[in-house]
Amino acid sequence: MDILLLGSGGREDALAWRLRQSPSCGRLLAAPGNPGIARWAECAAIDPCDSGAVVALAKEQAIDLVVVGPEAPLVAGVADALRQADIGVFGPNAAAARLEGSKGFTKDLCKANGIPTADYVRAERAAEAREALSQFGIPVVIKADGLAAGKGVTVAMSRAEAEAAIDAAGDGPLVIEEFLEGEEASLFALVDGAAAVPLASAQDHKRVGEGDTGPNTGGMGAYAPAPVLTAELQSRAMEEIVLPTARALAAAGTPFSGVLYAGLMLTAQGPKLIEYNVRFGDPECEAIMPLIDGDFAELLLAVATGRLGEIAPPRLSPQHSMTVIVAARGYPGTPASGGAIRAIEAAEQVAGVTVFHAGTELVQGGLVAKGGRVLAVTAVADTFANARARAYRAVDQIDFADGFHRRDIGWRELQRETA
Ligand code: AMP
Ligand code: GLY
Repeated sequence: MDILLLGSGGREDALAWRLRQSPSCGRLLAAPGNPGIARWAECAAIDPCDSGAVVALAKEQAIDLVVVGPEAPLVAGVADALRQADIGVFGPNAAAARLEGSKGFTKDLCKANGIPTADYVRAERAAEAREALSQFGIPVVIKADGLAAGKGVTVAMSRAEAEAAIDAAGDGPLVIEEFLEGEEASLFALVDGAAAVPLASAQDHKRVGEGDTGPNTGGMGAYAPAPVLTAELQSRAMEEIVLPTARALAAAGTPFSGVLYAGLMLTAQGPKLIEYNVRFGDPECEAIMPLIDGDFAELLLAVATGRLGEIAPPRLSPQHSMTVIVAARGYPGTPASGGAIRAIEAAEQVAGVTVFHAGTELVQGGLVAKGGRVLAVTAVADTFANARARAYRAVDQIDFADGFHRRDIGWRELQRETA
C-alpha cells in the first residue's frame, strides 16, 4: 500500500522509519516532513491542517492510507475530509478528537461513564474559576480547556499561585482539578470503534529541568515500556478507562479510530485518567517504534478499515528503549534557531541507536536547528540500563553547541533498578 504521513516532528520521523520497514508499505510520502523524514519518505511541502490540500495530494498520488501524526490536523477535521473522500486514514474524526481538543469534554465523558479521573469543575470565565477554588485543597490543578501543546497546565502549590494561573489564562474556559498523587505512566491503545487493544506503555519527562523541575515542555525524554504499569494495572486501565471511553464514543455516534494515548496517574486507588491525547506521544513514539514487531503498516491499516478484531494483536519485542531529546537553548521559551548540528552519523554508530529529527532544516547543505526540540536520540537494548547508557553515549557524540538535554531521563526506573 502507498502511505502518506502527515507531520514534521520527531514522532513522525519515528513513524516514517517504522513504516519504511513494514513489508506492506509501498511508496511513503510525508507532508511536510523534515530532513530526517526525507531519509525514509518523499516529502511534499503542504500544510497538514489544510484538508483540501491533503485530500488532493492523496487522490493525485493514489494513496491507500493516510497516517496522521499530530493532533492539530485531527482537531481541524482532516480525518473527516479524508473519510468523506473514501481515503483510508489512521486517526480519529474531529468529534472524537475532542478527547484531546477539549479537557472539559473528556472530564464530562468520564463523569457520565464512571471512568476514574480527578474531581473537577469547568469554569467559563475567570471569576467562576476563582470561586471554584474554594472547593479544592492545595495543590490544585488549573488547565486551559483547549489545545496548548502540553503547556496549558499549572499545578498550583498555593492559592495565590492558582489565582495567578487563572489570571494568566485570560477569560477562556478552564478546568479546575483535584491534585492526584502517584506516579505517571502513559498507555497507548489502538482503538477501532468499540474495540481496543493495548499497544505499548511509556514514561515521559515533561519538565525542562533535571529532577523534574522548571516549566513544562512537550517532553524532554521517554522510555518504553514503563514497568511501573504492570500487566495487572494495564488491564485495569484498559477495562476501567480505555474501553468504556471507546464504547461511549461509539454509542454517541462519534466512534474513535486511531491511537488513544491515556495519560494515567497510578494512585493508591488504581489508575486514574489525567488526560487523553488522540495521537502518539512525542517523544514516547520515538521510544515505542523500535519495540514494535511485525508489519506496522498492516496494523495501522487494520485500525483504519475497522478490522482490528480480525488480526493478531500487536506484538512488542522484549527489549527496552530510551529517547533523549536534544533541545535548542531557550526552549520551552524562545529557542535559539539556526545552530549548526554535526556528527549525527557518529551518534548512530553506537549500537541500537537511531537519531530522529524533531526540529531541523537544511540550509545550504548544512543541518541546523529549527524549533524547540531538535533531535530525539533513541537507543534500544536488552535492559533499561543498557538502553540508557547507549542513548547517552550517542548524545555525547553529537556536536550541537546551541543544544541542551536532560541527563537524568529514566531516573525513576534507574532508582528502582538499583534499589
Ligand atoms: P496534562 O496536559 O493534562 O497531561 O497535564 C500536564 C501535567 O500536569 C501532567 O503530566 C501531570 O504531571 C500534571 N497534572 C495534570 N493534572 C493533574 C492532576 N489532576 N493531579 C496531579 N498532576 C496533574
Ligand atoms: N509527550 C507528551 C505528548 O506528546 O503530549
